[in-house]
Amino acid sequence: MDQLEIHGNGPLRGEIRVSGAKNAALPILCASLLTADTLTLDNVPDLQDVRTMLALLRQMGVQVEQDGTHLTLNAGAILSPEAPYEMVKTMRASILVLGPLVARLGEARVSLPGGCASGARPVDQHIKGLQAMGADIAIEHGFIHARARRLKGARIVTDMITVTGTENLLMAATLAEGETVLENAAREPEVTDLANLLVSMGARIEGIGTDRLVIHGVERLHGAEHRVIADRIEAGTFLCAAAATLGEVVVRDVPPVILDAVLDKLVEAGASIERGADWVRLSMRQRPRAVSFRTSEYPAFPTDMQAQFMALDCVADGTARVTETIFENRFMHVQELNRLGANIAVEGNTAVVTGVPRLSGARVMATDLRASASLVIAGLIADGETVIDRIYHLDRGYDRMEDKLSAVGARIRRIAG
Ligand code: EPU
Repeated sequence: MDQLEIHGNGPLRGEIRVSGAKNAALPILCASLLTADTLTLDNVPDLQDVRTMLALLRQMGVQVEQDGTHLTLNAGAILSPEAPYEMVKTMRASILVLGPLVARLGEARVSLPGGCASGARPVDQHIKGLQAMGADIAIEHGFIHARARRLKGARIVTDMITVTGTENLLMAATLAEGETVLENAAREPEVTDLANLLVSMGARIEGIGTDRLVIHGVERLHGAEHRVIADRIEAGTFLCAAAATLGEVVVRDVPPVILDAVLDKLVEAGASIERGADWVRLSMRQRPRAVSFRTSEYPAFPTDMQAQFMALDCVADGTARVTETIFENRFMHVQELNRLGANIAVEGNTAVVTGVPRLSGARVMATDLRASASLVIAGLIADGETVIDRIYHLDRGYDRMEDKLSAVGARIRRIAG
């Protein structure tokens, strides 16, 4: 298994281009199942979760052609509407094929995702919504088996805000008969990006970007061309790394408006931020101040930035309270950060981070994607050498992270294992 070796060596300086968003690309790839025509995509990030999703789609019969970040997908002939356990267990987002498959083919068999490092993470809302649209759903032998001759529009109020749940039901509703209303819909920019793609495929959707999506089902969708939006979490990760190292970095190809909550907290920590239409410049000249925050649904502070911002708080002046409200067990990085000399205590869903002047390099283990990113940031500011094991977690969601960091002055290298 590959490892990352990092030597803490001072400020990051320079420019970083942000890749396309993983969490927009994954549902968008699944939207290819909704039409027999070709979907042409640009700015698709090169990362493991995308490769896993493409393998799943290919296995179903989708024709995929790839040229760098440019992809074409054609689902003219689906051979098997099934997502096997081996795929779903490595990537929960595989559940996103469920809605499109039932809507277009009338049938889907998708393995039930199990637990993961962030806790139980059930998919009951996806199922409840499809049932409301008339799908007949059986859970048998660890699979969700869904059938429907044609889905019917319905009014669906999800019990909580769910990102992939909203995306699954939105895709299903585009081909349902009549009107579907999704109340309590997720407003994440990645949901909006998917909705915009669906509209360019011929879907009729109102309320895009709000928590109430109204979808007028159509008989069929057609091909389209689409550019995937920027990865706000990748951008936020690099900005936290720049702030932690007292550096000055410009992240490009990302509209700052989708990063507002994170930028506000960086300013609170003492960073100077300048923004353009599609770039953000951060500079940090003094030790950061401790910043407390709570994760919540968009547009509030994203859970996917919690671990990385906590790494910044580890070396800040003062004590921060970090409360995780989205996932029940998303503090796996805490023990590893403490191995690097941080002072963090967990009280229920709150981590109390008392800033220390410096961290010290050690061998640590990545436990999930965003936890890995927080360890990279911590490694950049730790004295001496940090070696991160199990970085396949990092590779799931970051496109060449070590290359991008090296280019702005980090001493970081991959050790092939
Ligand atoms: N939930 C249920 N039942 C459901 C669906 C969700 O109880 O049917 C609960 C979850 O257990 C969780 C909460 O609702 O407590 C919110 O989960 P959500 O469904 O919104 O999460 P997700 O759609 O599985 C997406 C991202 C995650 C991101 C979350 C929250 C993708 C592919 N994944 O997951 O991204 O953390 O939304 O914003 O879009 C990551 O990129 O590192 C990552 C984990």
